[in-house]
Amino acid sequence: RRLPQQLYTAEQVRQLDRLAIGGVADHPGIDGFELMGRAADAAFSRLLQSYPQLDQDAGMQVFCGAGNNGGDGYLIAALASERRISVSVTALKHPDELTGDARKAFEYCSSKGIRIALWCDESAVTGEILVDAMLGTGLSGEVRGDYRRAIEALNHSGKPVVAVDIPSGLCADTGAVLGAAVQAELTVTFIGTKQGLLTGDGPQLCGTLHFTDLDVPAVVYNRLKPSSIRLDKSALKELMAPRKRTAHKGDYGHVLIIGGNHGMPGAVIMAAEAAISCGAGKVTVATRPEHLPALAIRRPEVMAVGVGSRVDLQSLLHDKTVIVAGPGIGTDSWAYDLVDEALNADVPVVLDADALNLLSEHSQLRRARKFPMMLTPHPGEAARLLKTDTGSVQKDRFAAVASLSATYNACVVLKGAGSLIQYEQQTSLCSAGNPGMAVAGMGDVLSGVIGALLAQNLPVYDAARLGVWLHASGADTLAWQQGETGLLATDTIPFIRQQLNELTG
Ligand code: APR
Repeated sequence: RRLPQQLYTAEQVRQLDRLAIGGVADHPGIDGFELMGRAADAAFSRLLQSYPQLDQDAGMQVFCGAGNNGGDGYLIAALASERRISVSVTALKHPDELTGDARKAFEYCSSKGIRIALWCDESAVTGEILVDAMLGTGLSGEVRGDYRRAIEALNHSGKPVVAVDIPSGLCADTGAVLGAAVQAELTVTFIGTKQGLLTGDGPQLCGTLHFTDLDVPAVVYNRLKPSSIRLDKSALKELMAPRKRTAHKGDYGHVLIIGGNHGMPGAVIMAAEAAISCGAGKVTVATRPEHLPALAIRRPEVMAVGVGSRVDLQSLLHDKTVIVAGPGIGTDSWAYDLVDEALNADVPVVLDADALNLLSEHSQLRRARKFPMMLTPHPGEAARLLKTDTGSVQKDRFAAVASLSATYNACVVLKGAGSLIQYEQQTSLCSAGNPGMAVAGMGDVLSGVIGALLAQNLPVYDAARLGVWLHASGADTLAWQQGETGLLATDTIPFIRQQLNELTG
C-alpha cells in the first residue's frame, strides 16, 4: 500500500491515538490495548512476509522499552510464540516499571512462557532477526543510558532489524538522529505517518517503510490538519491541464535562464534543456558569450544571448514570463549585477546555486517584490542563507525551510532526501527520489523544470511541488531501469518529460 499523503508530528499522532481511543462522532472508541494488539498483528504479519525463515527456526529477539512501543514489542513476541517461532525478549527497563497497556502486554507475553531477560550488554544480542521496540514516538531528548548502548549493539550485530513504528533514536518530528538511532531494514509504522520518517536521516534509517492505519476510522483523521503533505501523483494530476488543440508557443511562456560564468557552460545548458523539455513555449539563455556555440550545438531549440553586463540583460527582459537565475553563475560582479537585475524584473524569479549565495552575502538583494520569488537551496546553501551551519539545517529541516520562507518571503524548496517545499503556512514533502540524484547537474535540471512550469502559469507553490515531484519521479524511473550509481542529470530529462506527459495525458 502507498504511504498516505497526510504526515504528522509525534504530538499529532498522540492526538490521533487519543481520538481513536476516545471515539469520534458515531464511531465508538477503540480500546487502547486492542489498538496495541492491532499494531502488533500488523507488524508481525509484515515481519513474517519479509522474513519467512522465521518459520524455519531462525530465532527472533525483541528489544522492548518501557513505554507503549515496548508494549507493542511484548505482543509481537507473544504472536511469534503462538506460531511456535523461537523468540526471546530483552527488556531495556525492568518490567516492574511498566504501567498501563505496556504492563498488560508484558503480562500477556510472560503468560506465554517466553524468556524475558534484562538488557546487560552487547552480548545480549543473540537473535537472527531483531525487533526494535525500544523507543517510539515518546522519545524526548538525546537517547540515554542502556538504550544508547542497545541501539549501538543492534547496529553492530549485522543482523536484520525490524523497527516497530519508528527506528529507536530517530526523531519523529524532524528526521534527525537524537544521539544514536537504529538502522532498520524494515519499519512498520502505525496510525499516522510521522513526518520525520521521510526526511533527514529517516529514509535511510527506516529501510523499507510500511504504514497501517489499524482501521482507525477516517473521521478521526478528519479532526486534525496534518503538519505536512506528502507529494502524491494523484493529487498533483489536477495541477496541469492538457495542451489545447489550438495551442501556440506563446501560450506556454518564455523562460529566461541566467548563468554560466567563465568555465561553467554546463549548468545553463542543463537548465535550458530541462525547461524546453517540460513544456515551456520558448527558452532563452543569458550567459557569457563564449558559451553560445556550445549551447547552439547541444540544443538548437534554445535561444542564447551573450551578456557582458546588466545593460545587455535589461534588453532581454521585456518579453519573458519567468526568470531562473543561478545555474553556474558564480559570485563575481558580473553575477551580482545579473541577479540584481533579475530581482528587479516584474516576473516570477527562481534563484538557485550561486544566486542563493549572492543573496545570502548581499542584503541589498533582499527586497520587496510584486511577483513571487522561489529559492531552491540544498542544505549547504540553506545554511548560508540562514547564517548557520549545514548540521543545524539538517537537524530540523522543517524548521529550516519555514524559517527560510518567512525570512526571504519566498516559496522555498529545501533539497536533499525528502525534499521539503514551504510556501506561506503550507509544507509539502517529496518522498520520491533516490541517492543516484546526488550528482552534479541535478539541481540545474530541477531549476529548469520549475521554470517551465511557472512559464505555463502554475502558481509558485504548485510549480515547486510539481517540479520537485516530476524531477524525483523521473530520476526514480531511470534508476529502476539502469541503477542508481552513475545517473546523469541530462539522462533524467526524457524521464521527467515522460512523467509530465503521463500526468497530463
Ligand atoms: N532516552 C532514554 N529513554 C527515553 C528517552 C531518551 N531520550 N526518551 C524517552 N525515553 C523513555 C521514557 O522514559 C519512556 O519510558 O521511553 C519511554 C517512552 O517511549 P515510547 O514507548 O516511545 O512512548 P509511548 O508514548 O509510551 O508510546 C508511543 O506506542 O503506540 C505505540 O509504538 C507506538 O511509537 C508509539 C509508542
